[in-house]
Amino acid sequence: MLQTSALRRPGLEPGKSDPVGTAERPEKLTLVKALGSYVWDDQGRRYIDCTSQAWSNNLGANDPRVIEAAIAQIRQITHARPNFNSVPLLALSAKLREIAPGALHQVGYCLHGSLATEMAMKLAFKNRPEAKNLIVLQDGYHGRSLATLAASWPHPDNPFLPIQPRFARAPRPDTYRPRKGLTPEQDAALCLDLIDDMIGKGLDGPVAAVMMEPIQGNGGHNEFPRSFYTGLRDLCDRHGILLIWDEIQSGFGRLGTMWASDYYGVVPDILTFGKGVGGGFPLAGILADERLTWFDEGEDALTFGHFPVSLAAALATVNAIQSDKLCDRAREHGDYATLRLREMQARRRLIGDVRCPGLMVAIELVTDRTTKEPARREAQEVYRRGLAKGVLFGESRYAGLGNLIKIKPPLDIAREDLAKALDVLDEVLGDIEGGRP
Ligand SMILES: Cc1ncc(COP(=O)(O)O)c(C=O)c1O
Repeated sequence: MLQTSALRRPGLEPGKSDPVGTAERPEKLTLVKALGSYVWDDQGRRYIDCTSQAWSNNLGANDPRVIEAAIAQIRQITHARPNFNSVPLLALSAKLREIAPGALHQVGYCLHGSLATEMAMKLAFKNRPEAKNLIVLQDGYHGRSLATLAASWPHPDNPFLPIQPRFARAPRPDTYRPRKGLTPEQDAALCLDLIDDMIGKGLDGPVAAVMMEPIQGNGGHNEFPRSFYTGLRDLCDRHGILLIWDEIQSGFGRLGTMWASDYYGVVPDILTFGKGVGGGFPLAGILADERLTWFDEGEDALTFGHFPVSLAAALATVNAIQSDKLCDRAREHGDYATLRLREMQARRRLIGDVRCPGLMVAIELVTDRTTKEPARREAQEVYRRGLAKGVLFGESRYAGLGNLIKIKPPLDIAREDLAKALDVLDEVLGDIEGGRP
């Protein structure tokens, strides 16, 4: 059996930054089984999975409808070159067009969110051939391929810099820590002004697109004031710039609507999707406005981009999300979780902020609510103690401040399991605050 200790990252040398933030984490679990909202490790321990793995099991793990669809497809054809159609490709594309926001009726596929994001960037430049720049937001996360790594937050020790493209990172509003003396709405208005200035006089040449996550997931679970979403749409229209929404985390019901676009009432020109679409099978892609020029043959052809097994699994997944009314479930569970967390916040001084909407839930832990000093060690402790009590919480491992606990389970989690996870959270926060081992 694989020795988990062999996978452990060494401790950090003094003075070295920890871009992936894993230096103090407990050993990796070896997972052997998953069903619905549960995962089991190789010691036979069961956990309530508040992470949906990579925030990707919007429909609970190993749903029999998805497994059956994948097996049936495996028996038909597993591999089709991108020059061909396949039955699941046509069926899934029709389904996605049906549920797409606005006129985002052109569909493209690949197997990873990072590549979907690159596909969106490529399409933006194809449609704005004069452009030289692409704007992203500070604290955004768009993947780990060379281009998307560069489009995400900065890495002080980034070894890949010499071979990466450059992006312009624009300021984003911070609702929990707005800029000095400003309300979150004023902060949003200021950021819009700054982006306007950046486009007008800050960059060498025209801009193809502004790309953003509607809620920044890995960068700190940052939602923006509503005025920022509509304001940025207007600003892009005014400048003739495309708006790309990275819905790889927020899509397929996570916010209580099929898309964040539906939730905020803003339709981007290009939307990326991934994670939850495949029901555990790898799939991602883009939806693009029908007015945009699509790729010419060969401009976006990936060997396994049209993987029929994933496409069939995705069709079964999206059908299940609809028939099981998982958007409604996400909304109901999310309302319940945020209500309980706000009640907990009144008793637990470590909880600085409670964030939603839907089942995109997180709390930010602080050592002091006035200074909002991030409680990083305490967040690691919540993660560790949660595991010991059979709950797998999400924590901010990458950028952001490293002090977030995330509760983003499958949308069809049983209410008792969600309640149990919140009970465990309450208990471990109480123990940490009380200095109990
Ligand atoms: C918002 C967002 N965009 C892109 C990605 C990259 O997706 P993948 O890991 O499938 O390449 C992620 C993954 O966490 C994400 O959260």
